[in-house]
Amino acid sequence: MTTLALTDKDLATLAVDAVVVGIFSGTDGPELAPGAHAVDAALSGGLLEALVALGATGGEDEVTKLATFGALKAPVVAAAGLGKSDGAPSAEVVRRAAGAASRALSGRARIALALTGGDSPDGLVQAAGEGALLGAYHFGSYRSTPVPAGKQPPSTVQLVVDSSRDKAAKTAVRRAAAVAEAIGLCRDLINTPPNDLFPAEFAARAQRAGGQAGVDVEVLDDKALKKGGFGGILGVGMGSVRPPRLVRMSYRGRGAKVKVALVGKGITFDTGGISIKPAASMENMKSDMSGAAAVIATMTLVAALKLPLEVVATVPMAENMPGGAAYRPADVLTFRNGKKAEILNTDAEGRVILADAIARACEDSPDYLVETSTLTGAQLVALGMRTAGVMGSEALRERVVAAGGRSGEGMWGMPLPPEVRKGLDSTIADFANVGDRSGGMLAGGHFLSEFVSDGVQWAHIDIAGPAYNTGAPWGYTVKGGTGVPVRTLLELLEDIAANG
Ligand code: BES
Ligand code: MN
Ligand code: ZN
Repeated sequence: MTTLALTDKDLATLAVDAVVVGIFSGTDGPELAPGAHAVDAALSGGLLEALVALGATGGEDEVTKLATFGALKAPVVAAAGLGKSDGAPSAEVVRRAAGAASRALSGRARIALALTGGDSPDGLVQAAGEGALLGAYHFGSYRSTPVPAGKQPPSTVQLVVDSSRDKAAKTAVRRAAAVAEAIGLCRDLINTPPNDLFPAEFAARAQRAGGQAGVDVEVLDDKALKKGGFGGILGVGMGSVRPPRLVRMSYRGRGAKVKVALVGKGITFDTGGISIKPAASMENMKSDMSGAAAVIATMTLVAALKLPLEVVATVPMAENMPGGAAYRPADVLTFRNGKKAEILNTDAEGRVILADAIARACEDSPDYLVETSTLTGAQLVALGMRTAGVMGSEALRERVVAAGGRSGEGMWGMPLPPEVRKGLDSTIADFANVGDRSGGMLAGGHFLSEFVSDGVQWAHIDIAGPAYNTGAPWGYTVKGGTGVPVRTLLELLEDIAANG
């Protein structure tokens, strides 16, 4: 793990391997951001000219490195683009620039960030810290020889502020470190290969992480699932020799008045089952437990930050395989709440395990229920790789979208039109698990809504695209598991803790 600290020392004499400053892309070319002026002074006012000569424009995701020739103790200055921010970058712009800088400075163990001014609001200090740590994430446990030092991400990050004893800045650093640790856990779980992360092992890791954070964890094995009537989780799990699990994590903060249920999809690998997927890109389906990973990580974060809420996570885990005992198209499964679904496609398995989990979560009578899952390919067709689709009760749905606006994770509200629900009608059961192709993301939302008890405000966040980055790294988003929507869930829970 990369460590994060504050510094108020003179940038010119700071013992680091690189100093990061910010540049805007102004209308007449790049402009130095406030934090860059101390470095510019040490370079006798030549920083901007040197950056322009190297082709810097100040655009987002751009990092330009230059040698300091002894003018600073640090051998390198890196200028990270802040885009057209009109002198006041948003938290997300700062977060992305810090992440891009971290990634560009692999091989440099100690870096210092002076992206914005030393007197920046605490929100920007936290954003810079988060971005730098998230961009420094590295998943190295499956290489027989570690990556060479010259390619390793920075191991210490110092944030340059006016006073390193400032209480709010210290809090910002602690929060950024807690957030990055939770997202590191989430990303590690997603990136772990499915031969090593199967339901029982996933549950054991949730138990370990929860235990360390001070969260109560209970694991239901397949026997307990049978006893409890969890026909959906068992049905999906039947095709695998590695049986399913249901994990329950509970946290109760001091002064808690509101109860929130979290639910996350934990398919440790999705072959599609008997309705098998094509081979191309099937390997990406190790990420089909991203919703579960995000919920588990959020529970550890809620405990670390001691939120004054009661939060209970219900996390179903199964492997969707086409084994000899697999559930089949035409099967009818009976869920925890007694409802019955005709399975018309075994690849629509997420909603089938989530149905049981949502029904179980509602037995605790939560005030709010938030579920997240890599539920539909239709989500990425509609909204692309970086914007999650949010469905559910209107008020909570809009609070989730607003929380996404604050976290920088893209979220967009989606409707649940009645005609799409009609598409799920079954000739023999209460409903089918799929309809026709149109509105596929919304059909998923409708299916889940059947399991939410009346009076519970709920939201479903489809993260099929944003949870897993199959493209090039950008900002603080590395390849593989991203950690979406952990920071949005945290923002939402903080909003609920403050406003009910
Ligand atoms: N896990 C997939 C959804 C998915 C697709 C996530 C691509 C991430 C990237 C889900 O279980 C699935 O297979 N959904 C089907 C539903 C269909 C059969 C109604 C899909 O989207 O094709
Ligand atoms: Mn599937
Ligand atoms: Zn799936």
